[in-house]
This record gives sequence, structure tokens and C-alpha cells, in this order.
Amino acid sequence: MGEYDLVVRGGTVVTGTDTFRADVGVRGGKIAAVGEGLSGTTTLDAGGMLVLPGGVDTHCHIEQLQEGGGADEESWITGSTACLAGGTTSVVTFSTQFKGQGILAPLAEYRRRAAHAMVDYGFHQIITDASDAVIFDEIPQIVAEGVRSLKAFLTYDPLHLDDRAYLRVLAAARRAGAMVTVHCENYEAINWRTEALIASGRTAPKYHAWSRPKMIEREATHCAIALAEMVDQPIQVCHVSCAEVAEEIARAQARGLKVWGETCPQYFVLTAADMDRPGFEGAKYMCSPAPRTASDHEPLWDMVRRGVLDVVSSDHSGWSYEGPKGKRVNGTDAPFRDIPNGVPGLTARLPIIFSEGVSRGRIDLNTFVRITATNPAKLFGLYPRKGSIAPGFDADLAVWDPTKRVTLANEMMQHVMDYTPYEGLQVTGWPVATIRRGEVVMRDGTVQAPVGSGQYLARDAYDMAKPRGVLPDGFDASAFA
Ligand code: URP
Ligand code: ZN
Ligand code: ZN
Repeated sequence: MGEYDLVVRGGTVVTGTDTFRADVGVRGGKIAAVGEGLSGTTTLDAGGMLVLPGGVDTHCHIEQLQEGGGADEESWITGSTACLAGGTTSVVTFSTQFKGQGILAPLAEYRRRAAHAMVDYGFHQIITDASDAVIFDEIPQIVAEGVRSLKAFLTYDPLHLDDRAYLRVLAAARRAGAMVTVHCENYEAINWRTEALIASGRTAPKYHAWSRPKMIEREATHCAIALAEMVDQPIQVCHVSCAEVAEEIARAQARGLKVWGETCPQYFVLTAADMDRPGFEGAKYMCSPAPRTASDHEPLWDMVRRGVLDVVSSDHSGWSYEGPKGKRVNGTDAPFRDIPNGVPGLTARLPIIFSEGVSRGRIDLNTFVRITATNPAKLFGLYPRKGSIAPGFDADLAVWDPTKRVTLANEMMQHVMDYTPYEGLQVTGWPVATIRRGEVVMRDGTVQAPVGSGQYLARDAYDMAKPRGVLPDGFDASAFA
């Protein structure tokens, strides 16, 4: 019998700030010690490897309910498998509200479905209908249940909120002490341009990018930030596609606002030209905001290095290519506006960012850990339980071989999808073992975790979601409306 249940021995431990040689001792699912010469009942040899915190993916769509009944294709079982295969141990996914309905019943259904999870999980609540009942009565109830973040969509039918509804969501979040994450694209501008594209016969997948150019994302980001500033509510701008949009966030941060920015792997490796692949193939690369051009990739890395964009999530979305609910659901002649948006990325997120970021010398290891684990955990109230390696944290670890070269292929992704948009991409650096709360749940690509072994992450009040206390004229409108 060793002093610890498990010792991860001889690796190089990397946190958001430090890199050092140490053993990690685990007891009762928690990190109990980080030091030298630890002895465990079981040992995992990490010699020559990196020992990183398990990834925290705070933007992914798993088993999301569909309005007509049923759910997206990615189930909690396949989604969890994909996460663990890629070194991710915690997610914050979404509970959706349908217009005209409340949020309590759907959230209960999401929680019922998530009982199958093998990763630890929490929820952002999407608000699509800012009714009095939801705003004043139901949001406080779900926050008490540990759902400490709301998502607002400034575009997409039927999710879109107009400015007044968005303000009501911000005010409700402020009262309840929740974070708001915002999808920023201008609804009217996209609709106007889409109508014109369709009227002119431009319907192929590549016109998805034409329907939503950079400036409509930049404009909506500016608007989302200005209204959040007026309400004095912290926000995250999610899935930022390019530096021009991040510049809006940088300006807000320079003014001292509590505004953060997230981006995703697709904006570093895909381009709008991928949507122009032959036939209907371009549909595989359609997501919103749209991937930009190759010359946008380096400026986006600059924004990560500057800390303006401090979280990289997958925005994994549940559409296969061939499946009955997938990209071809409306036929292969469907105009771009009728093709489901989103790309899969639960497994690929960390290897792509490791390879494009660390292996290619664009960011250091500590930045990698910050943007993929520590910062998302902090921003969404999971810290100090998740996101670092120190005594008291959950023993969520990913052991990485930093030199392993892999050519990405869909079968490695272990998601339910029948494709990956990253097929053929070469990466250097790969997670060879994943440990979730002290259990070795992935070794060399083989995931073994009991269905239902994931835990719900109820999130408490936390500082990053607290308002600054700076209001125009000192008047707190959120106390009245
Ligand atoms: O295209 C995307 N991003 N689909 C997922 C939904 C969203 O906007 O986050
Ligand atoms: Zn979005
Ligand atoms: Zn999303």
C-alpha cells in the first residue's frame, strides 16, 4: 500500500504559471500532493511526458434538445468519450429554452440526460424568450441550482434576442450573480444580406461566409459590450473569429470592463475557402461566425498572446454529414441558410491548439494550460476545483506526449459524427492518458469510464461574475427592470 491511491510519476507538471518536474499524488479523487518520491498503491509512469490539468471545455453542444422533439446526435456517452480521448475532463454545455416556454422543465430534462455523462459537467442556460416569468422567477431558481451562466444569441432564428430582451437578460444575470456569454453577430444585417444572396442565386455553402462578413460580428460585439457596460454586467464574447472583433474586446478591457473573449480551433486552421469545396462538402466547414482567411490566423494568435482572448473552447456542435439530422437534412441542394451550423471538435480542440500553438512556438506551455483549462474554469466558476494542479484540486490530469506526431482522422475523434473538418491535419503533441478525479479513464486512445460516472458541477457565486459597481449616473436600472 502506498501513501496515495495513485501517483503519476516522473512527469513534467505544467500549470498556468509554472513548469517543473514532480510526482502527483492522488487520494480520494483529489490531488493530495505534488512533490518528489511519492509512493502510490498504483503508479502511472509519466517519464518524458507532460502532466497537464484535464482540459475544461466551456463551450460545447452535447445532446442539445431540438424544438420538434429529440436531441442533437452527440449523446452524453459519445460526447464524453470524445472529450476523454482528447484530454478534456470537464465541460460546460447548454440547456436551451424554446420561445414561449420556460427554462425549468428543459433544464430538468438536460440534467436527466446528462446522468449518462462520463465527464464532469455544468450548464449555461440559453435564454431565447425573456418573459417576466423567466427573467424574474426562473433565472434565480436555476442559479440556485448551480447554473451560473446564461447565453444570449444576438442572431439566429429562433434563438435571437433583440436589444431590449438582451438587456433584460443582462439585468437578470446581474441580480442573480451569473456570467453572460454572448453570440455576437448582427441579426438584421445577416438576414438582409442572406436575402440578397439567395435572390441573386448565390446559395452554395460558401455563401454562408458572404452572408456574415467580419464587420457584422464586430458591430454586434461592440453593441453587446456597450449594453453590458450600461447594465454593469460581466460578459464573455464567445467564438471570436478574427482580430478585428477581438480589438473591440481589447478596447473594453483597456477601459477596465469585465469583458472576456473566447475563440475556437476552427478559427486558427479553417478558412472560408473550405466552404467552397466541391459538391456539398463545403457544408462540413460551416459554422458561425464563419471561418475567415489564412491571413487572419496570425493576428488571432496575437490576440491570444496579448490575453485579449483568454479561452479556447471547441464549440462542438452536433451535426454529422450523412446522418438524418445532419448537414444534409434539407438535401444537398439546400441553400446555405438551411444547412445546420457548427463543426465537431471535442477531441481535436486540445491537440490542434497544442500543435499549432505550443509545438509551432506561438505560445508557451503555460499559456496553453491557461487558455484551455485554468481560464475557462475561472471564468465560469469551476475554480479552484478544476483547471490546475495543486493540492485540493480534483485530480483531473492529462498526460501528454509532446513529440507524438499524429495525422488527424475521424476514427480518432470517437465522437458520433461521421466526419471531422480536420481530417488529414498533422499535429505534434497528443494526450496519451486522461485521469478524471483520480481514475485513469483513457490510455493510448482507449476510453474506459463507467457510464454515469461524470458529476454535475453546481457552481456557486464567484468574483468574475460580480459587477464592477460602475453605472452611468450611478443609477442601477437592473433593480427596477
Ligand atoms: O455554428 C455554430 N457555432 N453553431 C453552434 C451554435 C453557436 O452559435 O454557438
Ligand atoms: Zn454561438
Ligand atoms: Zn456554440
